[in-house]
Amino acid sequence: MCGIVGYVGQRPAVDVLVRGLRRLEYRGYDSAGVAYFRGAAIEIQKSEGKLENVETLLSKLPAISDARCGIGHTRWATHGKPTTQNAHPHRTGHVVLVHNGIIENYQEIKQDLVKRGHRPVSETDSELFGFLVLEKMDAGRSLAVAVSESFREVTGACSVVVMSEKEPGTVIGVRNGSPLVAAVDPKGGVILASDAQPLLEYTRDVVFLEHGDMVVGDSRGIRFLSLQTGEPIQRATSTLDWSPAALDKQGYDHYMLKEIHEQPAAMVDTLNGLLDRASAESFPLAGQPAVELLKNAKRITIVACGTAWHASLMGKYWLEKWGQIPVSVELASEYRYRDPVVDAGTLVIGVSQSGETADTLAVIQELRKKGIPTLAVTNTRGSTLSREAQATVFTNAGPEIGVAATKTFSVQMLTLLCFAAFLGKQRGKTAEMDQIFAQLIRIPHLLGDYLDEKGTLRKAVRETARKLLLLKGFFFIGRGYCFPLALEAALKLKEIAYVHAEGYAAGELKHGPIAMIDQDIAVIVLAPNDAWREKTFSNLEEVKARGAQVLGVGNPSDESLQRVSHFWIPLPETGLHESLLPFVVTPVIQLLSYEIAVLKGTDIDKPRNLAKSVTVE
Ligand code: M6R
Repeated sequence: MCGIVGYVGQRPAVDVLVRGLRRLEYRGYDSAGVAYFRGAAIEIQKSEGKLENVETLLSKLPAISDARCGIGHTRWATHGKPTTQNAHPHRTGHVVLVHNGIIENYQEIKQDLVKRGHRPVSETDSELFGFLVLEKMDAGRSLAVAVSESFREVTGACSVVVMSEKEPGTVIGVRNGSPLVAAVDPKGGVILASDAQPLLEYTRDVVFLEHGDMVVGDSRGIRFLSLQTGEPIQRATSTLDWSPAALDKQGYDHYMLKEIHEQPAAMVDTLNGLLDRASAESFPLAGQPAVELLKNAKRITIVACGTAWHASLMGKYWLEKWGQIPVSVELASEYRYRDPVVDAGTLVIGVSQSGETADTLAVIQELRKKGIPTLAVTNTRGSTLSREAQATVFTNAGPEIGVAATKTFSVQMLTLLCFAAFLGKQRGKTAEMDQIFAQLIRIPHLLGDYLDEKGTLRKAVRETARKLLLLKGFFFIGRGYCFPLALEAALKLKEIAYVHAEGYAAGELKHGPIAMIDQDIAVIVLAPNDAWREKTFSNLEEVKARGAQVLGVGNPSDESLQRVSHFWIPLPETGLHESLLPFVVTPVIQLLSYEIAVLKGTDIDKPRNLAKSVTVE
């Protein structure tokens, strides 16, 4: 979830860059840097850690306020540790760049570059792109041509902003997947960024680049070119009508929608807090109070309510698969009034966004008194749960205002996944866990692109919501990892749209609920490409045969699923391990409830009868 800013114009460039990066901090990052022209030479200041470190470096330099052109970056490490060396901007000869996204064929590119005598100094995929541009410029190409030709050699969704000492005062940006927004500075100049926030300080008229667009900013102003042909293209300006109140919501109509979109950043921040990102080890859980408790546990009981209970159910799948530990997941309101068999070998984990949910809290308080090991997973520092449990692991989703839990669901799942992977490594599954880790840290990038406001997901969901709106009931079905998601989907829909919805393990339908299926019922089939897909597909045919209106949610290349479904929402083509697919199915189910609620005109952020924090039993 890197952040990018680029500027050329009349203002002090470094100031514009740093202010812009501040506005992108919400995306989550672990290093930062800026590069700017001083005369015809480019200087770079970068550091691991927070933006303040870069500001400290800058404060010691003379006359940087003269700089009028530069680029800046906040990096969240995917390829290589979060060190100063790996921080952006990267210099390759006279070429300096920042990059957001992933170059998938970086290993092949690196091998070729090394064969041609180049010596990358960082561990990043990003730096390699600079070598490609450098070679082409040294062969006589302009910066713009060199950048577009270099893109023909890379695969993967990414955006870059590039400068060269051979063309002082020019900033070139490309969107080839990851979002990029451009605007004309009314004071004279051009500003680019990975989202609109840094631009809003200067103008509300912005251009959202399309995939395959190149933008050139220089003393002549702004130009858009096709990456493919190099020909000039026209791009319409959007005027962002953001009131001060909406700015709180960052332009989204509701907090819920904003929070759905914040999931990639919430995941980044949670991973930053949970793992030692500088460690070469995957899932080290460095310094986490959970470590000893997890290591000593013979079995785990998770207690939670509502959405947190669904995240915990998902956690059970991972903990059992990788951690090879028996797990039971309990509704706190039921568990507290039972006579459960629990001993000191059982680790009891309370999962709660607010950390104040009365039932969850009561279980933890009671069991701790009895000497049972207790661990809290919560998003709220200082919460009662975090004080009552023996140890606490915090999720870092930031404040969640919408009553419907969205981003906290994702980070609760993520945290339990990290526990499971940590235990997996303890039990010798190192290679498998390393592989999962390498994929996991790509998810925020993938999700960011999938959720991109101008992308196809939102449109597809909105259109489908319109068609399903008048049906009398909704069944979400799934197997394996998609069973907890089906439960969560139904809860979301009931909660904010006030319509009847059920979540079922798809194999359970024929044990009763299938009697309800007719042409007035929507069945939403969650069937990504995983081990359960074939079985779920058969269940789809059963409900279709009984007249249900079927919405398929599956892999984009799953033609048979698409063919038999009346409505279809494709997941992104990610190549992710099946156990990580819940993170990409989640936004679909959240957005579907959201769009249905919008059409119904309910009070989405404050649904009737509900409170964000349920402090009574
Ligand atoms: O704060 P908690 O995570 O303990 O809250 C638990 C439930 O009340 C909560 O998840 C509720 O179900 C949400 N409003 C669902 O969106």
